[in-house]
Amino acid sequence: MLETQVKRNLYAIYESQIESARLRFEQNSGLEKIFSPDIDSTVLELYLIYFNAHGVAMTDAVEDWINRAGDRCLQLGYTELGQLLRTHAQQEAGHHLMMIEDTHSLVASWNTRYTQQLNAEWFLSLPIAESTHRYRQLHEDVIASNTPFAQVAIEYEIEMLSVRYGSQLIQQSQKVLGSKITEGLTFMEEHVSVDIGHTQLNAKLLKNFLQEYPENVNVLVEIGGKALDAYAGFLNHCLRSAQEHARTLAGITQVS
Ligand SMILES: [Fe+2]
Ligand SMILES: [Fe+2]
Repeated sequence: MLETQVKRNLYAIYESQIESARLRFEQNSGLEKIFSPDIDSTVLELYLIYFNAHGVAMTDAVEDWINRAGDRCLQLGYTELGQLLRTHAQQEAGHHLMMIEDTHSLVASWNTRYTQQLNAEWFLSLPIAESTHRYRQLHEDVIASNTPFAQVAIEYEIEMLSVRYGSQLIQQSQKVLGSKITEGLTFMEEHVSVDIGHTQLNAKLLKNFLQEYPENVNVLVEIGGKALDAYAGFLNHCLRSAQEHARTLAGITQVS
């Protein structure tokens, strides 16, 4: 009886142990500055461009990562999770293409308003940030490890970010930059809605998995936390790039 209760509560244990990593994300992601009423509009607009351009390297391998983690789960006998991960992988196909398109449309929109012209290809060919390398390596390490099921913790934490912060970011962008800005935020808008379902699915996968393999709660918390730390680093990199870029555009002028 007691054992069943402990098993049932493992999801609650995961939730309470990951809390400090979620808090760390909140403090280190730079989102507080982005959501501030005093945010500089040029910084915010550049941030959205950097988010999409740098986001391509955070997103282009998602389908492949989940697929390969699913395959490894199947190999190691975690059949149910392996199969469900492979199904989820299909739902993530091609999402980086939206970020490429959004980079182009945000830059095109900027160029109609400011004399200082930007070039979408320049943003898209920037080197990959250190935090993005870390994020990509984390996936590779999880796939190669004997705990490939930890991919579900990465998915759970990262897709939950769209649910927790996505609408607020869209609202702030509309408030500061006008409602037309959403024409260049298709990745964000789509993820705010589809990741509600994906997060519910991830929660279910995590719950079921922990019921069967309760001894793995610590590794799930550890990997989920590492994913959040790397993602906070990525968002911070976007903010710092936007701030530095804005400084080089001092004296920015609107097209008359
Ligand atoms: Fe996605
Ligand atoms: Fe998703």
